[in-house]
Amino acid sequence: MAEKEISQAVIARLPRYFRYLGDLKEKGVERISSQELSSIMKVTASQIRQDFNNFGGFGQQGYGYNVSYLYEEISKILGIDKQHSLVIIGAGHLGKAIAGYTNFTRRGFVFKGAFDCNPALYGTKIRDVEVRPVEEMEQFVKDNQIEIAVLTIPKEQAVPMAHKLAQCGIKAIWNFAHVDLEVPNNIQVENVHLSDSLMKLSYNINRYENNI
Ligand code: NAI
Repeated sequence: MAEKEISQAVIARLPRYFRYLGDLKEKGVERISSQELSSIMKVTASQIRQDFNNFGGFGQQGYGYNVSYLYEEISKILGIDKQHSLVIIGAGHLGKAIAGYTNFTRRGFVFKGAFDCNPALYGTKIRDVEVRPVEEMEQFVKDNQIEIAVLTIPKEQAVPMAHKLAQCGIKAIWNFAHVDLEVPNNIQVENVHLSDSLMKLSYNINRYENNI
């Protein structure tokens, strides 16, 4: 696929394209024009063309886009055409909810292990995966070639944990703790803060009510 650097803004839009194309595929739609896609997704057709041009286009003049082909290509770009194994660190409310969400598995993110420091949780199960003592995490990550660690522990614990994860060869951290992690460049970090989204929603309520 394309060697040139793709902007993070474009990458951030790809999952949405992927979802819409998945829905179209399920409905048996074989091809779609950028105008049609534009009206369903409420994004301009020129934005769609520009986004896809980053990856060599995908479209054909007078034909539009082949839905299955585009879907497969976007899944390759996003790297979800292959499986990624993940572990949850912190089997509390959020950790359990994430691990229990089977749709991630359908997308190729396979939940392999769960770790916690609370002895009361050891041996309990989330789906068919046993919660283990966090001391076993490093060896488990190495033995099972785990790629992604999901951090759902308190923020004070997240920084030292990220250091430990860096040492045992993790490739990426999906960080839910409200703290910025400092890890070597070879480790990818994606921060997820639901409260940021809520604050944006609150801003938009205010803006609408005040007619800004
Ligand atoms: P929780 O208290 O239910 O679960 C936290 C779990 O982490 C507990 O089981 C605890 O024993 C375990 N833990 C603590 N230190 C640990 C360590 N060093 N190693 C392994 N396990 C450890 O808390 P909850 O509600 O699940 O929240 C977890 C984290 O996620 C918190 O940092 C919270 O602020 C954050 N959070 C983030 C959200 C987001 O949108 N980013 C939304 C909700 C929570």
